[in-house]
Formats: sequence, C-alpha cells, structure tokens
Amino acid sequence: MDLSRVDLQQVPSHVACVMDGNGRWAERRGLKRTDGHAAGEEALFDAVHGALELGVEWMTVYAFSTENWRRPVDEVRYLMRFNESLLMRRVDELEELGVRVRFIGRRDWRVPKRLINRMDESIAKTAHNTKLTLTIAFNYGGRAEIIDAVRELVAAGAGPDQITEQAITSHLYDPDMPAVDLMVRTSGEYRISNFLLWELAYSELVFVDTLWPDFRRQHLADAVAEFQQRTRRFGGLSN
Ligand code: IPE
Ligand code: IPE
Ligand code: MG
Repeated sequence: MDLSRVDLQQVPSHVACVMDGNGRWAERRGLKRTDGHAAGEEALFDAVHGALELGVEWMTVYAFSTENWRRPVDEVRYLMRFNESLLMRRVDELEELGVRVRFIGRRDWRVPKRLINRMDESIAKTAHNTKLTLTIAFNYGGRAEIIDAVRELVAAGAGPDQITEQAITSHLYDPDMPAVDLMVRTSGEYRISNFLLWELAYSELVFVDTLWPDFRRQHLADAVAEFQQRTRRFGGLSN
C-alpha cells in the first residue's frame, strides 16, 4: 500500500463504506449477480487489512439494507447464507488480526436464526479485541435506527424535553460507535441509500467509480488522502 499521500497522524478514526456495485461487477463478466457478492468478500478483507495498516479504529460496512428485502427472493436467500458462511469462514482470521466485530441493524423475524447465531458467536469471540472495530450493518436502515432509538426513549418514559441529541445518540444501535469521519461509496452512485443517517451528519463523503469487488486497501488509502485535503468546519469557521 502506497502511503506517501497519507498523513498517518491525521487518519480518520471512523470510516464507513457502502459496498456497492457487486451486481454490476458480475454482470460485466457474464456472471450471476450473486457471484459479485461472493467476490466482495476479498474486497472487504483487503479493506480491513488496509484499515489496520492505516490505524483506522472504527470501520462500518453496509452489508444489507432494510430496503434490500425488495430484491428477488433468491438473491436475498443467497445473501443470508453468504453472510452466515462468511462469518464461519473468517471469524478466526478477524480474531487473530485483533478486530472486534459488531453488528447494527434490526434483528427481525426475516433474519434467519442461524445467521443471528453466527453474529452472536462472532461478537463474543472478538469482544476483547482493540485494534479495529468492524461494524457490519445488516438489515440496517438509518431511518429505522432513529425510529428505534426514539421508541426506546419513549418506552423508558422520556418526555418531550428529554428527546435530545445526546439522548438519541445514546440509544442508537451501538452507543459506543463514534460519528463517522469519512464515508466511502463505491460504484459511482452519489447517494446515501439510508446508511447511518444520524452518524453521517458531518462526515466527509468520498465517491469512487470502482465497483466493490475491485476495491482494495489502496483505494481506502486514497480516500483517506482525499479526506485529509478537506476542511471540516462543523458549521463554524476554519482557523
Ligand atoms: C451491493 O451491491 C451489495 C448489496 C446491496 C447487498 P449491489 O448488489 O447493490 O450491486 P449493484 O449496485 O446492483 O451493481
Ligand atoms: C446500498 O446499496 C446497500 C448496500 C450496499 C448494502 P443499494 O444498491 O441497495 O442502494 P441503491 O438501491 O442503489 O440506492
Ligand atoms: Mg447497488
């Protein structure tokens, strides 16, 4: 990985990735869309290695959205099994790398119990790791997350004055997760697609044309270099 354009003292602590373009990657090769999802595994693990080398502390990846249920049943079924088998195949490697695995999203009846079990095993097995937290957004929607946070608050008896920014933040799916510094979306689509709406409020957005299965750690390093060219103002003025 060429780090010559990266300032390792100013690496974003939380990078989020919209892993998009698997279907198009496969179609261009005359393959099935699901082959594209399979090819995305290598991209994900290369990006994880890149994050570790860069010193990124939090990486959140969009694996399945609350809207992805609209896909053909065969593709949905494939994605459920694929994610289950990926966790089985790769959890030991993540564990050895010092990666802590977490999940955000709704655990509703549509998510197979076997996948939920694999998620829980991965969380438990890697809970003590401290190098990088890899959060997998699965059956995740940004709107659902905000709704669920407000519902929890209301259920706990919060009145209107207690619905504050801080209260909502502390009732998100993972209250430990910091705001996103850098969001990278692959495949040339310029949209958020209901990812991390609350956490992205002041993120820097980088869009790349690369399709997710072709994404490698160098693309991550390049996105970090681009992030470092930006001036974040958070509504204030830069010095
Ligand atoms: C992203 O790739 C993976 C998921 C949404 C699960 P897509 O499947 O959306 O690929 P394209 O966008 O159709 O090429
Ligand atoms: C976003 O990609 C969801 C994931 C990458 C998991 P989509 O392919 O579902 O988004 P749209 O439909 O192009 O907005
Ligand atoms: Mg897509």
